[in-house]
Amino acid sequence: MNVTRPVPAQPPLDLFGKGRADRATRVLDAIAETRLRWTTLVNRKEPPARVDDRRIPLVLVERRVEAHDTDVISLLFTAPDGRALPEWRPGAHLDIELPSGRVRQYSLCGDPADRHAYRIAVRRIPDGLGGSVEVHQSLKVGTPVVVRGPRNAFPFVLPGHGSSAARVHFVAGGIGITPILPMIRMADGLGVEWSMVYVGRSRDTIPFLSEVESFGDRVTVRTDDEHGIPDAAALLSGVGPDTSVYCCGPVVMTKVIADAVRDMPGVEMYSERFSAPPVVDGKPIRVTLARSGETLDVPADKSVLEEVLKARPDSPYSCRQGFCRTCKVRVLTGDIDHRDTVLTADERAAGDMLICVSRCDGDRLVLDL
Ligand code: FES
Repeated sequence: MNVTRPVPAQPPLDLFGKGRADRATRVLDAIAETRLRWTTLVNRKEPPARVDDRRIPLVLVERRVEAHDTDVISLLFTAPDGRALPEWRPGAHLDIELPSGRVRQYSLCGDPADRHAYRIAVRRIPDGLGGSVEVHQSLKVGTPVVVRGPRNAFPFVLPGHGSSAARVHFVAGGIGITPILPMIRMADGLGVEWSMVYVGRSRDTIPFLSEVESFGDRVTVRTDDEHGIPDAAALLSGVGPDTSVYCCGPVVMTKVIADAVRDMPGVEMYSERFSAPPVVDGKPIRVTLARSGETLDVPADKSVLEEVLKARPDSPYSCRQGFCRTCKVRVLTGDIDHRDTVLTADERAAGDMLICVSRCDGDRLVLDL
């Protein structure tokens, strides 16, 4: 792995990234007004013209511990025959099919100029939903995997190339550094004025510390044990008008920043969050699983997926944000309130539903499960 390889001094080939207020994120978008733009995975302006479902066989060629607490590892994959891999740009992620059949998404954190390797990093979350533990336990050097992508739902819009901002400020929380790393390398390589605040529980827990600190005083590292929980002023230190803020980390941190940016004229915000969005405008739904006849009550503030998982813990899902399609289910009866960003008109007409975000216009759905 080459973590110091320079980013070529040219702008990215695509610079899209406008946000959209959809129902799933209306609460957050309501605070956006005209100067705050969200580019989370669930609120892009338009559904992508084409979903890239290509499956790419890879093999793990390097595995490294990236945090002193040993809970973060980076993984480097190449094609088994060494061929060049599809290109990607900062902010992109891969869907990785794990040996168990789970599909999980991880941001690419390596060098976009390296066409022969993909690097990701994964924090082990013992109480999580199993994907990170499986990565840590099962993926050894030599393990074959299949990935889909890369896809980019958190694109980096360079000042002067699609963004009216003059400078960029990055905020990363813990493992949220992964999509930010290629961005800061690109910004630095292109001479963009940038700064960064990197936060975490302690220096032992935050990954890629030496790599980030190699950028010198552009980067401020704040840890909870040394500095306390950061407030908006600490996270947005030095941010003024004409600044784009790129943020990736825990939902709480993202919300603190969004609340502050709302009152900062001339500041744009782009973010990627770790968890499912809150249910907005939800109503209770009664869901019947057609093949078993089982009936589930979905409360107004829960997703259909959450209740289906209680009854069918092995039901497939991944992003929980309505963009990966893993949870797609055919609806046999009921009017679907589509809240995803990816299903085509044909899929919707056929009755397909992404149950992690979409709901029901009435109060009853019958699923082909
Ligand atoms: S889990 Fe990804 S679209 Fe539902």
